[in-house]
Amino acid sequence: MNTLVEVNDLYVEYELKKEVFKPAKTVHAVNGVSFNIEKGEILAIAGESGCGKSTLAKSLLKLLKPKCGEIFYKYRDIFKINSKLQKGYYQNVSMIFQNPYSSLDPKMTVFDIVKEPLIVHSNLRNFSPDLKMIKELTKEELKDIVLDMLVQVGLDEDALNKYPHEFSGGQRQRIAIARALILRPEFVIADEPVSALDVSIQAQIINLLLELKKEYNLTMLFISHDLNVIKYIADRVAVMYMGKITEIGKTEEIFGNPKHPYTKMLLESVPKINGFVDKENISHGELPDNTKDYKGCPFALRCSKCMNECKEAYPEKFSFSETHKTSCFLYK
Ligand SMILES: Nc1ncnc2c1ncn2[C@@H]1O[C@H](COP(=O)(O)OP(=O)(O)O)[C@@H](O)[C@H]1O
Ligand SMILES: [Mg+2]
Repeated sequence: MNTLVEVNDLYVEYELKKEVFKPAKTVHAVNGVSFNIEKGEILAIAGESGCGKSTLAKSLLKLLKPKCGEIFYKYRDIFKINSKLQKGYYQNVSMIFQNPYSSLDPKMTVFDIVKEPLIVHSNLRNFSPDLKMIKELTKEELKDIVLDMLVQVGLDEDALNKYPHEFSGGQRQRIAIARALILRPEFVIADEPVSALDVSIQAQIINLLLELKKEYNLTMLFISHDLNVIKYIADRVAVMYMGKITEIGKTEEIFGNPKHPYTKMLLESVPKINGFVDKENISHGELPDNTKDYKGCPFALRCSKCMNECKEAYPEKFSFSETHKTSCFLYK
């Protein structure tokens, strides 16, 4: 095994300021999360809206500072690296956002958008056969690098001088992917990259990501609330609930042999072609208040299998295989 990313007991909080009638509160968005990502794999994070997926992604990019816990990239703590290593980190790690309407600057041409990371990292030499630095390249040379990338994502030369509004949602996401990959990163975080797109376009973008993953030997953290998409793309899946990972395993373990009642609930609420399947685990509740401290399992409030002990303490991890683990008292 070759671990690229290690997240170790991570806690990330938001402070909600005191308002006239409301006391100050703390949102426990990521609440003790640990996992590894191995080189070359696609790990998906599944879970309902508000469970902490984007907060986790932003922490990995150092856009948020955790309250405690660690994130290691190639065995280095990303919050303790010096500015030179940090620059290298941002060269090797990039992000694709959910909404290609807001993530692309409407005033910039596609050429300028996709070129931007090259300009930020203008001392790199690996983009030119004679090892010139990016800042020493001519506009024509830069154009060739950008065009190569655009072709990789299924766009052509016509796109270079156009603006984002001249493209459909799927094409905009292609532009965002080109920008994310132009520096040839090793690790890509995709936060709901197809959720804002029409269903008919989603498959094209997912297939493009899979092709590019192979072509560039990428490692990916793929965040989605859509289990159909996750089943298709992921090697492993971590299910998140209220800032915690409740179950993790290989995709076939999570979909073929789900253990945690929350995973079962999520799977049973996936719309099927012939309608919803109504089974006992389906809960009609919503995510509980994550500004409160729960001493037990936060899913206990919605769980049809809830026992007394579930309200008293958070369960330890239980392993079903080397890769398949869940935190649930049903298996203690
Ligand atoms: N900037 C913020 N300030 C306060 N609370 C936030 C902020 N961003 C997210 N949250 C809260 O943190 C929790 C996790 O949010 P988020 O990470 O966006 O979840 P997800 O991506 O799974 O939908 C939610 O309760 C959300 O309301
Ligand atoms: Mg999100």
